[in-house]
Amino acid sequence: MPLKSNARIGILTAGGDCPGLNAAIRGVAKAAMHYGMTVVGIRDGFRGLVENRTMPIDNPLVSGILTQGGTFLGSSRDRPHKMKVNGRNVDMTSAAVRNYRKLRLDCLVCLGGNGTQKSALSLREKGGIDVLTLPKTIDNDVAETDITFGFDSAMSIATEAIDRLHTTATSHQRIIVCEIMGHDAGWLCLGAGIAGGADVILIPEIPYDLSAVVHHLARRHKAGKRFSIVAVAEGIVSVEEAERLSASGGKASPLHRAPSHLEAFAAPGTEGIRLVQEPVSSRIARQLQQMTGTEARVTSLGHVQRGGSPTSFDRLLCTRLGTKAVELISKGRFNVMVALKGNECVPVTLEKVAGKKRTVPTDHPWVQTARLTETCLGDE
Ligand code: F6P
Repeated sequence: MPLKSNARIGILTAGGDCPGLNAAIRGVAKAAMHYGMTVVGIRDGFRGLVENRTMPIDNPLVSGILTQGGTFLGSSRDRPHKMKVNGRNVDMTSAAVRNYRKLRLDCLVCLGGNGTQKSALSLREKGGIDVLTLPKTIDNDVAETDITFGFDSAMSIATEAIDRLHTTATSHQRIIVCEIMGHDAGWLCLGAGIAGGADVILIPEIPYDLSAVVHHLARRHKAGKRFSIVAVAEGIVSVEEAERLSASGGKASPLHRAPSHLEAFAAPGTEGIRLVQEPVSSRIARQLQQMTGTEARVTSLGHVQRGGSPTSFDRLLCTRLGTKAVELISKGRFNVMVALKGNECVPVTLEKVAGKKRTVPTDHPWVQTARLTETCLGDE
């Protein structure tokens, strides 16, 4: 049933931020105003909904934000059905729904990654409210969409970093290990690694064997190449770690392991807490230096990858997804994520998306591309 023209839509941004969030909010807001709808901004993700912290969104507010990084609404990783209150996890769904009703919203638009898809579906199922989501994350690991917004921007930042590392690595004849975000999915590391011409690319989906990497570096050395760039994703595991993981009850295949596989090595009682440990890039650099005798350095790109202005690809994608969301709302189509499939923005039911993670299939064309351009993926 088409929505009344004076509908009120709430909008929030949840999870880790990325370039393009402001562009997507602007897309939603401008299209909503075009249809005569009112937009209410909700601060700091789902926590803002639970605590009823909102701000009106009007035309001047979204003017000039297309190019701005971050999210002017603020974000958090809080989940309404499992929210930390006085140190305890509490189901705050009813508070979220109460505020949704108090704000007289007809739909809640949630911009986020996998956690957000789950939270939105839970609000729909447990709270009975109408939601709609957009797929956001630099990790590019949301199911049922060809790409998430933020990914292209992060990939170009990481690619530029690898370009810059090349010149200094050459000058000093070093190995430089560059750590790229991605705990469970290697899209960013693989994409930037190929685009930047990294010599070795290690991703979570392909357990690595360090001796295979050392052989590759030795071959390069023999061929007269006096430096090497090793791109590693945050969540890589060695072949031995992958075996330990499957023996300890983690899923046998790294493609299907539990979301936070580092927890498999956590001390009893600390489950659920991501461990602070030696960054994987430092470990790899230390080991490669010992095994090859070549001086190694580490660069961890960290949150630089999530900052700054979105690329033109992301600006266009965010604007398309945001406006499509409002088109769907105007037709009364809720409880879907707006996905990019081919060149179309299409609705996908949230049940199909929530709880799934799109990792890199080991037979993906990018993997083959890397292998055919003499890139070592740590397995052969
Ligand atoms: O946004 C996803 C992600 O970038 C992961 O790749 C990364 O491990 C994580 O967020 C870091 O997030 P935080 O902001 O909590 O440090």
